[in-house]
Amino acid sequence: MPAIVMSNAGPNGPKEFEGKITIYVVICGVIAATGGLMFGYDIGISGGVTSMDDFLEEFFPGVYARKHKAKEDNYCKYDNQGLQLFTSSLYLAALVSSFVASKLCTKHGRRLTMQAASVFFLAGVVLNAAARNIAMLIIGRILLGVGVGFANQAVPLFLSEIAPVRIRGALNILFQLDVTIGIFVANIVNYLVSNIHPWGWRLALGLAGVPATMLCLGSFVIAETPTSLIEREQLIEGLAMLKKIRGTGNVDAEHQEILHACEMARQVKQPFRNLMKRSSRPQLVIAIAMQVFQQFTGINAIMFYAPVLFQTIGFKNDASLLSAVITGIVNVLSTVVSVVLVDKVGRRFLLLEACGQMLITQVAIGGLLFVNLRATNELQHGVAIWVVVLVCLFVSSFAWSWGPLGWLIPSETFPLATRTAGYAFAVSSNMVFTFVIAQAFLSMMCHLRAGIFFFFAAWIVVMGLFVIFLLPETKNVPIDEMTEKVWKKHWFWKRFMDEEEEERR
Ligand code: BGC
Repeated sequence: MPAIVMSNAGPNGPKEFEGKITIYVVICGVIAATGGLMFGYDIGISGGVTSMDDFLEEFFPGVYARKHKAKEDNYCKYDNQGLQLFTSSLYLAALVSSFVASKLCTKHGRRLTMQAASVFFLAGVVLNAAARNIAMLIIGRILLGVGVGFANQAVPLFLSEIAPVRIRGALNILFQLDVTIGIFVANIVNYLVSNIHPWGWRLALGLAGVPATMLCLGSFVIAETPTSLIEREQLIEGLAMLKKIRGTGNVDAEHQEILHACEMARQVKQPFRNLMKRSSRPQLVIAIAMQVFQQFTGINAIMFYAPVLFQTIGFKNDASLLSAVITGIVNVLSTVVSVVLVDKVGRRFLLLEACGQMLITQVAIGGLLFVNLRATNELQHGVAIWVVVLVCLFVSSFAWSWGPLGWLIPSETFPLATRTAGYAFAVSSNMVFTFVIAQAFLSMMCHLRAGIFFFFAAWIVVMGLFVIFLLPETKNVPIDEMTEKVWKKHWFWKRFMDEEEEERR
């Protein structure tokens, strides 16, 4: 494999990192990213299961009855808080658990956190697949949520820390690639099991055990990150691991930088308190904003509720699940585009292009539905096809931008001292707003009708402006040099750094 020599300026002047893209690092990346499969499978499966008659009849008979009334309002037939709680309870649990996971990550490492994630997740799967009542369903979802919170905290950090700087974006996006594969597989499973009566939904929920088992077994094969080892004072192991994953003995420059970062981190006794200081404001604001905006693109209105959404606009059961499978493929393939481009064209370019594409498609979908879909008619076939095409164009732009970068950027911008704590805010913001959308979307659709798409379009304008003015480019900047090279140089954010230095003096 070709040696990739990276040249960067360290805190004390220019430095060279030498390192190959070793097979070992790639294997570790691929295995860790299976944490994304768990998350993705969950996102994809709940929408399908909640549109299956057997499931509704058993747990939500009210929704079942309403769904089958011929003249029910198109926009309102799935509006039920209990049903939405089934989808969204997972995200509440994940929100709380990401803070616990942050501590675990720092004290016991990224790898152990991943192992814990898979164990919680497996327990949740068993409860869900065997559920006899709503309580079992919801408790199962909560355990799944703890698993997701742990995995989403540990995996992206792990990937960003083991990656050589030149491919950090690509390696980190393996996580999101697995999220999209998980969603896609779930869509296919939904489609296949919807004809297995009456227990197809149990199979759908039970198969979530597959990615969790993969992560659990895989986590015994992967390495701990050198940063985490050194941070926990396992200095010899940390150096050895660094040499192993870089495929060279000449890792001095990078080793020095990790030691320096650990030294700084050690002086910070209270990472969460430190995070509240002015100097952490830029990273914190960006990490939270990336996740909030990611959710306000409206992506999960489509991901969770694609089958429901397509039924709403007049597709029959099978056709709507199939359309969800199509959006799933588009999601996966477009994420590959991001893997290839992110370290070449940069983060900002992808985000801004996507804002344009998402704005146009949301407005067009809203317009089509506004004109063509009234409360009780069915959408004409031709118009329905157009809606699916527009949804695919929307999903593709999300998939090469806000999807992966919502996870990548927060994982690479914090200094080590506040990295796991800061990242916990990113994960939990994602979960809060995923929860909000999951819980509110069907009700919002019932009240705002086609206007829901204009609501999301307005947010896309806001996030575009945010990127233009406030988001610095982080492509090819070594993870432990962000403060010097990015934040201290940014036209707006540098004032937070300057004031901090003045305070110290
Ligand atoms: C988001 C999820 C979303 C998925 C779609 C992820 O980055 O966090 O909320 O469902 O992308 O692919």
